[in-house]
Amino acid sequence: MNIILLGPPGAGKGTQAKRLVERHGMRQLSTGDMLRAAVKAETPTGLRVKAVMEAGELVSDEIVSALISDELEGMGRQTGAIFDGYPRTAEQAHSLDAILRDHHRKLDHVIELEVDEEALVERITGRYTCAYCGQGYHDKFERPKVEGTCDKCGHHEFKRRPDDNEETVRTRLAEYRAKTAPILPIYEERGIVSRVDGMADIDEVTGATEAILGFGQ
Ligand code: AP5
Ligand code: MG
Ligand code: ZN
Repeated sequence: MNIILLGPPGAGKGTQAKRLVERHGMRQLSTGDMLRAAVKAETPTGLRVKAVMEAGELVSDEIVSALISDELEGMGRQTGAIFDGYPRTAEQAHSLDAILRDHHRKLDHVIELEVDEEALVERITGRYTCAYCGQGYHDKFERPKVEGTCDKCGHHEFKRRPDDNEETVRTRLAEYRAKTAPILPIYEERGIVSRVDGMADIDEVTGATEAILGFGQ
């Protein structure tokens, strides 16, 4: 099964993708995570995209489509792919069709996480992750069980994304509205779009998503 999680910054794409990975053995393909890894490793791609990401603008279509294509290359055919934060433009949507064809995969579902924009700024500015294992947390909505200690790996260092500030979030939302939301009709025509209330509890969002994907409780 291959699915796209679509929604504005902070909608919960990454949060839900990680749960599907843990519970159903799918694989998360997040272009945002791949780009951040490239920035951290100071690869030629990383050096090119750093400033663009920090400004909250979109990286070029060629760069992200190449990342996705490379990632699928190394994946077993049976492992389901969760596209998180890709595609984000019409051009990327067309590239994804071609990439999936090359890999003998088909797109089964596009899940749109519907959220109210006002909540997103709070979600994003409160978000942080374990610096060691990447587990995500939130100052208000998802605190570690023991303050200052990662639930998953026990480490004590956390980090925040450089683009998680209010000003950049506004730019990211504007990019979403202008370039990403308009790709939905491409998938609506194919009858594969489902909508989930992304304002519900994290667990409820997971339940609704699993129901759409046909995973029984
Ligand atoms: P990317 O990393 O994809 O960021 P994004 O789309 O802005 O989305 P986020 O990761 O911020 O949000 P999310 O939906 O994953 O939310 P999360 O689950 O963390 O992209 C970053 C940048 O890279 C882009 O700006 C661009 O420059 C570049 N880029 C990436 N892909 C690209 C592409 N394809 N083309 C061009 N450029 C690209 O949740 C957020 C917080 O809310 C968390 O703290 C979480 O705990 C909390 N939360 C989640 N769900 C709930 C809930 N139901 N209730 C309460 N809190 C919740
Ligand atoms: Mg994310
Ligand atoms: Zn950790």
